[in-house]
Amino acid sequence: MAMIAYKCPDCRITVVDTNPDRIDAWNSAELPVYEPGLDKIVKKTREKNLFFTKDIENQIKENDIIFVSVNTPTKTYGAGAGMAADLQFVEKTARQILEHSRSSKIVIEKSTLPVKTALAMERILASGKGKITFEVLSNPEFMAEGTAISDLENPDRVLIGSHETKNGLKARAELTEIYARWIPLKKIITSNIWSSELSKLVANAFLAQRVSSINSISALCEKTDADISEVAKAVGMDSRIGNKFLNAGIGFGGSCFKKDILNLVYLCSYYGLQEVASYWESVVKINEYQQERFIANILKNMFSTLAGKKICILGFAFKADTGDTRESPAIYITRKLITEHAEVNISDPKALKNAAVDLADIKENVKYIEDPYRAVAGCHALVMLTEWDLYKKLDFQKIYSSMLKPAFLFDGRNIIDHKKCFAIGFNVYPIGKPALSHFKK
Ligand code: UGA
Repeated sequence: MAMIAYKCPDCRITVVDTNPDRIDAWNSAELPVYEPGLDKIVKKTREKNLFFTKDIENQIKENDIIFVSVNTPTKTYGAGAGMAADLQFVEKTARQILEHSRSSKIVIEKSTLPVKTALAMERILASGKGKITFEVLSNPEFMAEGTAISDLENPDRVLIGSHETKNGLKARAELTEIYARWIPLKKIITSNIWSSELSKLVANAFLAQRVSSINSISALCEKTDADISEVAKAVGMDSRIGNKFLNAGIGFGGSCFKKDILNLVYLCSYYGLQEVASYWESVVKINEYQQERFIANILKNMFSTLAGKKICILGFAFKADTGDTRESPAIYITRKLITEHAEVNISDPKALKNAAVDLADIKENVKYIEDPYRAVAGCHALVMLTEWDLYKKLDFQKIYSSMLKPAFLFDGRNIIDHKKCFAIGFNVYPIGKPALSHFKK
């Protein structure tokens, strides 16, 4: 919404939320999320044509277009628990729009939703008695955290799904006109509403599948002395395959991939497509396997015991350039280290607050230290979990000198110069590459 406000000064954008603290935070000097470049855009537009308010009812009344961007977490109860998307917030919002609208509107699904959700929304919105009508569009979001601003400013594509009726096409044209202010028309693609809903789930499933594919091969590399970076480079140079999303690591995290794939799996099962469901489910299974493998590797190489050992985790966010820790592999890995009775120091430039919430139940066993040098001093092992740029530039000689010996380095993101660290004295364990250890076989 901030980007639309920035690019379309003549549009008045208002953001509402049921959580008043969030709205206060969006109106304050410190925004509630860390996203490079976002604060600049919000500061330029806020109180000019971008507003954050708690008054949901009046904003529904006053606006012509409503983007529904509510959360759709994985259902934790009843049918489809652990798999299906929980659509209660989408439905509540549709009912709220119906209740407070006094004029016809375009209602846009921005949240990631299972295919056919628009039908439920339309049925609710059509149940009113007056002359007001609602046209539902699907306009899924493809930006990624950490690069959201450039993704929004220069997207690969914008997708708008609508019904192919007169009113559907009219609403589609209205939304296209907004994006066309800064995005070339050839990048704004349109489709029927169901294709649009499904494309969002499929795009995330394909991205996650690439991560699981390369991670599955990293396991084979570790058995065969092949090097995953070399394999990824050779494979990715085939223009049909492409070189993006081929970084092996500790597995994907974030609030979207796992949730969206499970949602896809559920949809396939619901329609009786068991083979298709199992195919996509294996993407999540490999992701879990990769994290288990990483922990098993730490345990095995540190003489099969972590009890009483001090381990420093560098990076808790699910990826670099965000403070977001939702579904971060670091959560699972830290919990496993604690189960093995290790003492854990966690460092991250932006995610320590969220980490403390994620690990609130085991807070006696964890220390949060922002300075990476202080966090690692006196530790037996350094475990790299997020690919922050600042970690690539650390002084590893200084780090090595401050650690207990033998010093272990487990690089869960393959971002460090492994040979250099080995030469300094570390025993280095990358992902999908031969280990570099000073121990005699
Ligand atoms: C993802 C998609 O990339 C966006 O297109 C989509 O809009 C978004 O989900 C969403 O549905 O909201 P995001 O979760 O922010 O974006 O982050 P990604 O860059 O996709 O990374 C996801 C995870 O995969 C991270 O944990 C990352 O470290 C991991 N990853 C990514 C790898 O392990 N290797 C890679 O080569 C790439």
